[in-house]
Amino acid sequence: MISDVIAAQPDYGADVANLTVRAATPTDLPAVQRVLTNSWGMPMVVGHGVQYDLTTLPAFVAERDGVLAGVLTYSIDNDQLEIVSIDAVSPGEGVGTALLAAAVADARRRGLRRVWLITTNDNLDALRFYQRRGLRLVGVRPGAVDLARQIKPSIPETGSYGIPIHDELTLELRLDTEDPYRHPVQAGRAAFLQRFRWCEGHADTWALLRDPIATSDVVRGLAYPFLGAVDVVVATEARGFSLGCLVARELGVAFVPIRKAEGALPGEKLQIEAAPNWRGRRHTLRIQRAGITPGHRVLLVDDWVETGASLHGAWELVSRCGGRLTGVALLVDQMPDALRGELERAGVRVGALVNSGELPPAL
Ligand SMILES: CC(C)(COP(=O)(O)OP(=O)(O)OC[C@H]1O[C@@H](n2cnc3c(N)ncnc32)[C@H](O)[C@@H]1OP(=O)(O)O)[C@@H](O)C(=O)NCCC(=O)NCCS
Repeated sequence: MISDVIAAQPDYGADVANLTVRAATPTDLPAVQRVLTNSWGMPMVVGHGVQYDLTTLPAFVAERDGVLAGVLTYSIDNDQLEIVSIDAVSPGEGVGTALLAAAVADARRRGLRRVWLITTNDNLDALRFYQRRGLRLVGVRPGAVDLARQIKPSIPETGSYGIPIHDELTLELRLDTEDPYRHPVQAGRAAFLQRFRWCEGHADTWALLRDPIATSDVVRGLAYPFLGAVDVVVATEARGFSLGCLVARELGVAFVPIRKAEGALPGEKLQIEAAPNWRGRRHTLRIQRAGITPGHRVLLVDDWVETGASLHGAWELVSRCGGRLTGVALLVDQMPDALRGELERAGVRVGALVNSGELPPAL
């Protein structure tokens, strides 16, 4: 991808032809340290709460005619390569592009799934640079630079273009899948199927949450079909809670829990007895009445629907609060045809990443 981007750029002639990139060696350290200190005040940066001594990280160096022209430092963790710093001695001469390409090629060679980095909210030039080279903007941490400043007080208050520096922006380049953002449901489905495991006869949908990349894909896959179409997400404990909160956050709407009989749930409540579930157990389901305002469009999120007992219970609670169930987002759809027909007739849209028949057989 990056190599395609480079190939598509105009021919910059001798400047780029003279440029070489290689892994840094210990003998590069004094020159590397000078470049990093010049750029960052000291060879130390703070990103996503982590303090990095750049001189201890692996690096790529760019040279033009044997002279150091730029440095990229990185860190590898959890199938991912983080670009911790990237600096061109003279910007606008192709050094950044060459360094980025080297890091991406290295990540590919190692079979990593993602190249990512953080920049600050003022760094519009870097944002342009990265996005023109295929990286995608996937996260914002408001106030993270203000916190970093407590560790490194020399981080300026004001940055490029006079913009106050407060926030961290995350950009990424995915290497494991083609454009997971354009087709979020397919990407979510692929991530889920890849991570899905049976464990001691049970579907271990919790295990997915240990993988942050797959979780992001799955949450987008669950959420995006309902963007702008719901006001509230509800979910039944326990597994529904973790997914439901993440989906609500992705959609930027409220989350309202539906609790079983045990556990604190203060304030005015509605409660019902649900029909027996797939284990033959009946559950009391409770909701805080204030969570749903009459007229709210409600999305129910769950990992799996089999008998539909808890779905029916949640549906009834939502209706009794005056809300309207408009969507059901599931990892796995195993619902009986009768329930599917009932939801269809009521205008409730079902979005499931997979049908149960697509899962590998239980061990
Ligand atoms: C961000 C940074 C690393 C980019 O590196 P760079 O060497 O300037 O990047 P390049 O020269 O490869 O590309 C920059 C632009 O110059 C253009 N360019 C590159 N070589 C060129 C040449 N010989 N003639 C004319 N234009 C050229 C590129 O097309 C590119 O334009 P585009 O972004 O519109 O595509 C660099 O600007 C930098 O060191 N910034 C300060 C530190 C920093 O902010 N780091 C990032 C922190 S997250």
